[in-house]
Amino acid sequence: MENPVIVAIDGPSGTGKSSTSKAVAVRLGLSYLDTGAQYRAITWWMLSNGVDVADPAAIADASGKPVIVSGTDPRDPRISVDGVDASGPIRSQEVTAAVSAVSAVPEVRARMVEYQRAAAAAAATGIVVEGRDIGTTVLPDATAKIFLTASAEVRAARRSGELLGAVSVAATQEALVKRDAADSGRKTSPLAKAADAIEVDTSDLTLDEVVDRVVALVGEKKATAR
Ligand code: DC
Repeated sequence: MENPVIVAIDGPSGTGKSSTSKAVAVRLGLSYLDTGAQYRAITWWMLSNGVDVADPAAIADASGKPVIVSGTDPRDPRISVDGVDASGPIRSQEVTAAVSAVSAVPEVRARMVEYQRAAAAAAATGIVVEGRDIGTTVLPDATAKIFLTASAEVRAARRSGELLGAVSVAATQEALVKRDAADSGRKTSPLAKAADAIEVDTSDLTLDEVVDRVVALVGEKKATAR
């Protein structure tokens, strides 16, 4: 039996992380985990349960309460909170606006990282895990680490088409740059490129081109790891 393949895909919002990660997982026959969805899910629970998301101590106190279960099928990734499917509500603007504050709380991160390492350990053939700190913190021994980037303009254009409710590209760009700054500037495992990650700028590439490139990089890493 070959060792399970662990692919870490990090980068800021709107670089094509989710589409790329799901497609790579399908191509390589691997499981898939969207860690951003987990931070969104816990944020949705906080908002739904009246926790003040501007109060890190209140978030820390409540962080152990919700039970978050992530599906790992790249063709139909689902996430539930306390048994309720939250796949839709976690994409709301309300959650998007609050998720950086909630995900900066160390107690929240400790809990999510536990879930993430357990999912990686349980994946028989391997897994593609997408996020911000997967290569640096969650799975530092990953087979391949990819860091996706794209210009702020391209990222905003991609994101504005994706979020619930019609949002202008300019407003999306402003919110996205603000969220990236918060995610990169936080104390506990910020958004960062691991020293041994390979950077792929997706600004001028189609999704298929990015997927081809990542699949090739994983193949190279697997070959040298043998
Ligand atoms: O990928 P996304 O936009 O759905 O992620 C939502 C937020 O979760 C993002 O603003 C930063 C946070 N996040 C994180 O802190 N660490 C991760 N591994 C993944 C996401």
